[in-house]
Amino acid sequence: MLNVLFVTAEGSKVTAQAEPGARLLEVAQGAGMPLEGTCEGQMACSTCHVIVAPDWFDKLPPASMEEEDMLDLAADVTRTSRLSCQIELTEALDGIEVQIPGVSRDMQIG
Ligand code: FES
Repeated sequence: MLNVLFVTAEGSKVTAQAEPGARLLEVAQGAGMPLEGTCEGQMACSTCHVIVAPDWFDKLPPASMEEEDMLDLAADVTRTSRLSCQIELTEALDGIEVQIPGVSRDMQIG
């Protein structure tokens, strides 16, 4: 088992556990993160977009051209954005921290 730390759009932290080999998208959905993942990993949408903490981003295999192209279409893309359906969790990623992008990020909450 390995741990994944999600930071929601509102800034709360949620830790989830995953088996090695699990897709980050599925782990995020299992933890209640609002990622639609509409195309179920076919790289035909960008609704599984997440922002990986910079320290962890460098540990991931680089994105494919197709993934980069889809990321260009996502909202709030940053240098460390990835499509979570393309990230396979391994032991080396135990503790990875991932931010969920949110459309409400610039609004006052409450
Ligand atoms: S689920 Fe559609 S690109 Fe990841």
